Amino acid sequence: MPLLLIVPTGILASGVPAEVVAAVDVNTVANEVYTHNFSTTPLWPKTIEGITLKELNRLSFDMILMSPPCQPFTRIGRQEGISDPRTKSFLYILDILPKLTRLPKYLLLENVKGFETSSARDELIRTLEKCGFTYQEFLLSPTCIGIPNSRLRYFLIARLHSEPFPFLAPGKILTDFPSQEPENSKTCKDAAAVTEAGSPVLTKMLGSGLHANGRQCPQKRDFLYKLETETELERKQQWDDNLSLQMLKNFLQEDGEGLSQYSLPLKSLLRYALLLDIVKPTCRRSTCFTKGYGHYVEGTGSVLQMAEDIQLESVFKSFDDLSEDAKLKNLSMLQLRYFTPREIANLHGFPPEFGFPENITIKQCYRLLGNSLNVYVVAKLISFLVESY
Ligand SMILES: *[C@@H]1O[C@H](CO)[C@@H](O)[C@H](O)[C@H]1NC(C)=O
Ligand SMILES: *[C@@H]1O[C@H](CO)[C@@H](O)[C@H](O)[C@H]1NC(C)=O
Ligand SMILES: *[C@@H]1O[C@H](CO)[C@@H](O)[C@H](O)[C@H]1NC(C)=O
Ligand SMILES: *[C@@H]1O[C@H](CO)[C@@H](O)[C@H](O)[C@H]1NC(C)=O
Repeated sequence: MPLLLIVPTGILASGVPAEVVAAVDVNTVANEVYTHNFSTTPLWPKTIEGITLKELNRLSFDMILMSPPCQPFTRIGRQEGISDPRTKSFLYILDILPKLTRLPKYLLLENVKGFETSSARDELIRTLEKCGFTYQEFLLSPTCIGIPNSRLRYFLIARLHSEPFPFLAPGKILTDFPSQEPENSKTCKDAAAVTEAGSPVLTKMLGSGLHANGRQCPQKRDFLYKLETETELERKQQWDDNLSLQMLKNFLQEDGEGLSQYSLPLKSLLRYALLLDIVKPTCRRSTCFTKGYGHYVEGTGSVLQMAEDIQLESVFKSFDDLSEDAKLKNLSMLQLRYFTPREIANLHGFPPEFGFPENITIKQCYRLLGNSLNVYVVAKLISFLVESY
C-alpha cells in the first residue's frame, strides 16, 4: 500500500471543514472503491515518488494524512526498516517535505505497532523537528473510544510552528486520547495489550502443536484449551462486562440480509474450531480484522456465534472424546459465521452511505478493510490536531 495523502471520510467525520485536494494510492481496487464513494475528489493513481515537487507545490495543501507501507516495519524490524525498497515512498516524503515552498500546517501519520521503534520513525522525527513541527505520538485502539474492536496502531500528529499541544508528553507515546485527567491513559493501554497480545499467544501454541504433531488437530488440545479457560476466558469475560464498550450487536446487520453466505464452512470448523476467537452479539470485544479475514482462519479476526444461548464451554467440554460427526454436529449448533464486510466497516466507523461497487468481491472487501484505518480514531485525532486551545 502506498501513502495516502488524504483520508476524506476521517476529515468529514471529524467535522473539520476541508477540501480534499488529492488522494493518492496505487491499489486499483482501493481506488475503485474510493471513486465510487468520492466521485468528485481528485484521485491520483500513482506512487508518492511519482509525484514531483512541482506538483506538490501546486497543490498547496494545509494537511497531509499518510499511512506508509507497513511490511518493512512489522516483518523485518528495526534495523532494516529503512533499507527495504517498500519504504521508498516514505523516504521520498521525508526528503521532499523540507523542500516544499509552503509547508503543510498539519500532519497525521498512521502505522502498525512497532513503527515507534523503527529507524524510519527516528528519521521522521528528525525531519519534523528540522521543519519546525511540534508533534505527539500515540498507540491507540478503537477500544479507547468504546468501539468493541481491537486495532492497536501507531499515530503521530504534528503541527507547524505552533504552541506545543496542551497534552504534549515529550518523549512519551500516549496510549489514550488526551482528556482532562491524563492519568486515565494507563487502563486503556493495559486493555489494548491484552487483546493484541493475548489471543495470538494461545493461537500460536495451538498452531505449533499442530505442526509438531503433523496432524490436523493438536494432541494436547484439552490442556491448551484449559490454558485459555483459566486466564484468557476470564479476561474476555472482564471485557464483556465493561460497560464503557459498546455491544457488538450495535454494529451487526439484521438477519436475512443474505447472511447465510457468511457461515463458516463445516470443513474449516472441524479443523480450526480451537483456533477461533468466538464472540456473541452481546460481547463487547473482537480481535483485529486483518486482510486475510474470511479466507484464512487463524488469527485474522473474531467470528460470531449466532446461537446465543448455547454455552461455548459445554460444546468444547470433552470435545476430544466425540466422533467427528458428533463434533461437527455440536459445532454447527453454534451457528458460527464471519462478520460481513459491512459489519467490519461499521466497526471501523464508515458511515452507512459508504458502499462498495457491485463488482468488488467479498474477499477484496475483506482485504481492503483489513488494511483500513479506523475512521472514529482518525477523526478524533484530526480534531485534536486542528483544535485551537
Ligand atoms: C459512497 O457511495 C455511495 C454510492 O453507493 C454514495 O451514495 C455515498 O454518498 C458514498 N458515501 C460517501 C461517504 O461518500
Ligand atoms: C473498560 O474499557 C475502557 C475503554 O477501553 C478502559 O479504559 C477501562 O480500563 C476498562 N475497564 C476495565 C475495568 O477493564
Ligand atoms: C455435544 O454432543 C454430545 C454427543 O453428541 C452431546 O451429548 C452434547 O450434549 C452436545 N453438546 C451440546 C452443547 O449440545
Ligand atoms: C469493476 O468494473 C469496472 C467498470 O466496468 C472495471 O473497470 C473494474 O476493473 C472492475 N473491478 C473489478 C475489481 O473487477
